[in-house]
Amino acid sequence: MFKKILSWFSADIAIDLGTANTIVYMNGKGIIVDEPSMVALSIDRNSMTKKILAVGQEAKIMLGKTPGQIEVIRPMKDGVIADFHVTEQMIKYFIKKASDKVKVFSVPPTIVICVPCGSTQVERRAIKDSALAAGARKVELIEEAMAAALGAGLPVESPQASMVVDIGGGTTEVGVVSLGGLVYADSIRIAGDRIDEVISNHIRSKHGLLIGDATAEDIKKRIGSAHKNADVGEMKIRGRSVYDGLPKEVSINSSEVREALHDSLEQIIGAVKKALESTPPELAADLIESGIVLTGGGALLNGLPELISDATQLNVIVAEEPLLCVAKGCGMALDYLSSNKVYFNRLK
Ligand SMILES: Nc1ncnc2c1ncn2[C@@H]1O[C@H](COP(=O)(O)OP(=O)(O)OP(=O)(O)O)[C@@H](O)[C@H]1O
Ligand SMILES: [Mg+2]
Repeated sequence: MFKKILSWFSADIAIDLGTANTIVYMNGKGIIVDEPSMVALSIDRNSMTKKILAVGQEAKIMLGKTPGQIEVIRPMKDGVIADFHVTEQMIKYFIKKASDKVKVFSVPPTIVICVPCGSTQVERRAIKDSALAAGARKVELIEEAMAAALGAGLPVESPQASMVVDIGGGTTEVGVVSLGGLVYADSIRIAGDRIDEVISNHIRSKHGLLIGDATAEDIKKRIGSAHKNADVGEMKIRGRSVYDGLPKEVSINSSEVREALHDSLEQIIGAVKKALESTPPELAADLIESGIVLTGGGALLNGLPELISDATQLNVIVAEEPLLCVAKGCGMALDYLSSNKVYFNRLK
């Protein structure tokens, strides 16, 4: 009874606490916060204390342009917490922002948060504890591949298997779902961030040009390519010469970026093939019909569906609004909190 009364006054939320973006979803309201997982800190070098200056979009604007005593960090790395205290403050900020927007939290909310399939119990516990410390009443964890499948609209309850590949900033999650559960799930720490890093390294070694993280990401989004059918032209990029330290401009094209990305993309394909090999034969046969659905921001890399389709001989499609699938799936899972679905990773 008490639980029921509490639920009238609290609006439970789902958080996709991503390496690149944090998205907060509320049933009935949809996406209420969607911001980069970034925090700007001012550092007092004498006392070695850090103060939070900005979170989310405001912090991203400062990236690469801050004076010495200000640092912009991403407290999540590879899908898990790299800095516990800063993550807790970031979650607190996003909960506050969500509550200000909808003005309904009179009691702390229950929160569903996703975790990478490959995260350890210690990493999961850290996410749970930081959300509790940030003001949640109760925290339920769901595996990111399950959330992605739900949010992409896959028939997760069906006995017929479906496969989802979520390519985020820190991790690529591969999951096969059937009868409401994950029959296979794995994650590798190769995704959007690694691709940006490879682009930066390539431009430094081939063109002698140092570029920032934001430029590398921009190159990936504009002319990044995974397949020869996805040649999207060339662009001029600016950075600092490694030889004389002066500003310099060079031109690069899609096929050059594709070559540089070859090895990282092969690792993603390797993870997909491993999933296919590990799926029981009856379910693997279902995938011939249902194919593979891609979610996460990395799904938007030009030519990626074609590349995965060529490698697996399966039909590959990108889900609608791939960047929002995991958050929507966590939100759908909120509805099932009181049921006995196997969606949740129940941590004691
Ligand atoms: N058009 C695009 N082409 C290629 N990559 C893109 C595009 N748009 C976004 N991305 C990349 O998608 C990644 C962010 O995706 P997403 O928000 O799904 O990750 P995340 O959930 O924060 O990370 P994770 O799930 O690994 O913790 C970033 O690396 C971003 O650069
Ligand atoms: Mg994600």
